[in-house]
Amino acid sequence: MNGEDQYLARIYQRFPVNIARGKGAIVWDTSDREYIDCMGGYGVAIVGHCNDRVVRAIRTQVEKLIVCHMSLYNDTRLRFLQKLATIAPPGLDKTFFSNSGAEAVEAALKFSRKFTGKKGVIAMNGAYHGKTFGALSVTHNEKYRKSFQPLLEGVKFVPYADPNKVEDAIDETIGTVILEPIQGETGIIVPPDGVIQSIREICNRHKLVLIFDEIQSGLGRTGKMWAGQNWNTVPDIMCLAKGIAGGVPMGLTFAKAEIIECMKTGEHSSTFSGNPLACAAGYATIEALTEDKLVENADKTGRYFKESLLMLQEKHRIIREVRGLGMMLAVELRFEVRDVLLDALKKGLLMLYSGRNIIRLLPPLVMDEKIVSSAIQIIDLVLTEEEKRRHVH
Ligand SMILES: Cc1ncc(COP(=O)(O)O)c(C=O)c1O
Repeated sequence: MNGEDQYLARIYQRFPVNIARGKGAIVWDTSDREYIDCMGGYGVAIVGHCNDRVVRAIRTQVEKLIVCHMSLYNDTRLRFLQKLATIAPPGLDKTFFSNSGAEAVEAALKFSRKFTGKKGVIAMNGAYHGKTFGALSVTHNEKYRKSFQPLLEGVKFVPYADPNKVEDAIDETIGTVILEPIQGETGIIVPPDGVIQSIREICNRHKLVLIFDEIQSGLGRTGKMWAGQNWNTVPDIMCLAKGIAGGVPMGLTFAKAEIIECMKTGEHSSTFSGNPLACAAGYATIEALTEDKLVENADKTGRYFKESLLMLQEKHRIIREVRGLGMMLAVELRFEVRDVLLDALKKGLLMLYSGRNIIRLLPPLVMDEKIVSSAIQIIDLVLTEEEKRRHVH
């Protein structure tokens, strides 16, 4: 048992590895063993571990100012807001800062409730939006929900990516539709072309607020800055978190001005909101994404990664499906993935799971083809061994 377990609540599923440092797409444990990081801190390490730009920005800011409440102005925050405006989807002109994904979703739900005056929300089967009470109310998995009822009233779940079912669920109580343009936690579910546009069109027709949760899919992850761009669709509110501040905790909710402006002073807030250290790191993160062409790299290297995985699928019957876009990839197996993940770890590769039988890959967008090839070699090896164990030929 690692010493941490003595003090911490046993709430997380944990891997037997103690990570000491990281650079780019590689992390090292306390014995200086190297791992290719396809877990990426659950998709946080988009610009790579200890990205030079982010490290420099934090160093500079930490000497100047670490604390500055939103009730005061700060130029580091202004610079970041101006930088955000260069990448924000058109029309999403206003920003609310928080500290995590779930908080970005909480803010989005409150803004929409206040704007529409309606408590009803349509969410998707398989959706994952976080585990605070509001976010959990629109998260579908019964395992996460069952011990915490009653959750928010008025939430209706419909099959993901079925516009007809969205339309059928609309009644006079519904003001909001929330979805992940690509579902992450549930196993990288990419909707068929046309679906996201249709839901946008339904929301327009019924005057519903459409929230995109791009916490996992955004910031270049799918090879476009926003996953919604894969279908030329812009929501009314968008939630971000994970890698937006290069690994420093930050959540962010973009919204149309008319929506966010319905909020009165003090109706929502967070003490750490717009923290200068996170804002400095955030500025450097966007610089890395745009100037170092990491979004383009996610597209190019992501394609190579997916093609290589598809080649493995031809070789390994244990693979049921390979799917995803850019650096947001999944390999669905015919069996549980636990042993495969632990084996890969022993061979120097960190990966994530989704449910029991899906391997999820959320590598840093700085990963190159050489590292991908090494990762593929390890996956090939562990699947060969797993097939031997399970007598799959
Ligand atoms: C799509 C999506 N929404 C919300 C969240 C919740 O974010 P956090 O864990 O920072 O609260 C996550 C986290 O994985 C996520 O993937």
